[in-house]
Order: sequence, then C-alpha cells, then structure tokens
Amino acid sequence: MAQEFNTAYPSMDDLRNKAMRRIPKFAFEYLDGGCNEDVNISRNTSEIREVQLQPRYLRNRGINSTKTKVLGMEYDAPFGIAPVGLQGLMWPNSPEILAKAAFAHNIPFILSTVTTMSIERASELTEGNAWFQLYNPAEDELRDDIINRAEAAGCPVLVLLCDVPTFGYRPRDIRNGLALPPKMSVTNILQILGKPTWAYNTLKYGQPTFETLKPYTPEGLNLRQLGQFMDKTFSGRLNEERIKPIRDKWKGKLVLKGVASEQDTQDAIRMGFDGIIVSNHGGRQLDAAQSTINSLSEITAKYSDQIEIMMDSGLRSGPDIARTMASGAKFTFMGRSFLYGCGALGNKGGDHTISMLKTQFKQVMDQLCCERVEDLPKHLITN
Ligand SMILES: Cc1cc2nc3c(=O)[nH]c(=O)nc-3n(C[C@H](O)[C@H](O)[C@H](O)COP(=O)(O)O)c2cc1C
Repeated sequence: MAQEFNTAYPSMDDLRNKAMRRIPKFAFEYLDGGCNEDVNISRNTSEIREVQLQPRYLRNRGINSTKTKVLGMEYDAPFGIAPVGLQGLMWPNSPEILAKAAFAHNIPFILSTVTTMSIERASELTEGNAWFQLYNPAEDELRDDIINRAEAAGCPVLVLLCDVPTFGYRPRDIRNGLALPPKMSVTNILQILGKPTWAYNTLKYGQPTFETLKPYTPEGLNLRQLGQFMDKTFSGRLNEERIKPIRDKWKGKLVLKGVASEQDTQDAIRMGFDGIIVSNHGGRQLDAAQSTINSLSEITAKYSDQIEIMMDSGLRSGPDIARTMASGAKFTFMGRSFLYGCGALGNKGGDHTISMLKTQFKQVMDQLCCERVEDLPKHLITN
C-alpha cells in the first residue's frame, strides 16, 4: 500500500468537514456527537491542548524514532485505531479499509464486538495482529465462544469494555431515530439520497450487519427484534465475578477499557489486567465526566509501574499524541479520527489519516529534539 497523504487534507478539520459533506446526516451525527450537552467531548480535546511541551535545541542528538513498545509488542508509532461499533454504517467497508491500513503502517487496530466485520476477517487482513474488544456477554456460553474465536484468530490482546453500563443519552441519535441498529425512517432515506457516493458504496458492499455476532443471531429478525436481541445478549455491567472467568480463560494480554478513576485502576491491577485504557468513550457516556488527560495524570502518577496505561478520547493530531505521551501514557488511541478519514477519502482514508498523524507526530519529536518516544515526559512543562 502506498503510504502517502493527500495534501488537500493536511488536518483533521479538513477530513471532518469533507466527511460531513459525504456521509448522511444521521450517520455523521452518530459518529461525531458526544452525549447530553457535549461538554465532556469538548473538554477532552481542549484540556489535552492545555498541555505544553518544551524543546531542547542545543543538545547533541541522533535521529529520532517513533517506534513504541506496548504490552510486549513494538509498533511504528504510539497510536492505534480504537474500537468503533457499526463502522460500515458511517462509511461502507470502513473496517476493512482501516484494518488493512493499520497493518500496513504497523499500528494496532482494535475490532469492536458490534462492528460490521468479523473477528476472523480482521485477523485475515492483519495476519493475526488485530486486537479484539469484548462487550460483556450476559451468557457464559456466548462469552466463552467469542473468546475461543478471538484466540483461534490469533488476537494478541483482548480489550474488555467497562464504561457502558447503559447507553449514553445522545439527543441527536434520539432525534434521528438512530437506535442500535438504525431505523430507516423517511427522513433518513432522504438523507441517504443526498449522499450518492455513500449510497453507491452501501449498495456495492451490502447493508452493514454485526458480522462477529452473526452465528448467534436468529435469522429473520426485523430491526426492532434485533435491537431487543442485542439488549438481552450483552450486559454492560461488569464486576469481579464476571471478570474472573475471562481472566482465567484468556491466555493473551487483557486490557480494561473505560477506566477513569484510581479505584478502578487499583481493581484492574488486583484482578490481573495487563493494561488499562483511560477512556470516557470519547465523551459519549457521561457528560459530567473529567477529561481523560486529567484522569490520566492522576492515574499515571501512582500506578504506571504496576500496569500499562494507555489513553483515548479527544486526540485529533500529532501534537495531541505527543502531549498525551508526555503526560505519561504508554500508548494512545483515536476513534472518530479514522472514520473522518474514510468518510472524506474512502478507500484511501485509512492510509491518509495514519500517514498524516505519523507526519505530524514526527514533526513534534524533531522540533522537541526528542530521540525516543519514552523520553517525551522529559519535555512536559509542569508548572
Ligand atoms: C461512533 C462510535 C462508536 C463507538 N463504539 C465503540 C464500541 O463498539 N466499543 C468500544 O469499546 N468503544 C466504542 N467507541 C469508543 C471508542 O473506542 C473510543 O473510546 C473513542 O472514540 C475515543 O474518542 P475519540 O473519538 O475522541 O478519539 C465508539 C466511539 C464512537 C465515536
């Protein structure tokens, strides 16, 4: 795959604006929005951007490297693709586009339980390098079957999600009738007709469905029945009793995603997790929540020698990645950004977005005169 970026779209705002013009409104708003009054989503980015870094120009230094180790693996850059449900709704075939691009760029791709590509296909496209995010299944048998499939597919990391005890309150989705799965109202259909490339590609790749869950979904359900089936099948509420059998069964690395407190970090360490992702689901769950950069600083100060601490929510650029790594994260993830890329540039969107973020991040490393990603905290201005 050619690794280059389209100079007409050098920033995330450019990609987002183009994506907004090409994706039907109900799907774009599902991707783009936060919850309630959008306080947490804007706080995430604005508070990352308060972090300042200090360059060191007069040191004798070598060529810098953006290679980064996390959970025993080495990647080409300190960022990866966060799990996003229903990706094919936002841009047709986007999970395939993103998994291929992540593999070509040697960055991690995390597949959501409820996205529109199966575990097996993700594994095929990434030669067994995709991570898998698990929503907690209510039934033990289903849980064990999905874990067996992730293991057979060679996934190195299982990411257990803890921050969806209930669905977020998202006014746009309520207004658009966008339940999970989406209802096709007249308004939504009219919006689709106004976005011909999206509509053509949806016809080409077919109606997006929950591919990983297909073997468990009874055939012939209408959309409402499918929604009820999903509600019954997954229980977002996690506790030690539910986590223990997962830790006992899963032999690979286990990561808890959605951590926002010291107490949950202590519990994750005690329960045997290898890593946590400090995350507030991109501001989609609790509008009154703290920004992840602030949660991160409190958590890394005490626990970074006991568990690998990663972060997502609010990052949109290379400088944001550098600020987050300088604040103590071992690795970062982004969700919306890569879907903006696909919405804007289709099949080239994954490659472009990753190339752009790599270029921006490397420029910050060069400017700081920082040789190694793990040295970024030395450039953090703390007063
Ligand atoms: C449209 C959308 C769907 C998401 N679906 C999931 C999901 O299925 N599983 C999950 O663990 N996180 C999900 N997330 C959260 C992301 O993994 C990630 O935490 C978040 O997008 C990070 O914030 P950012 O979008 O500001 O980068 C979703 C996020 C978005 C925007």
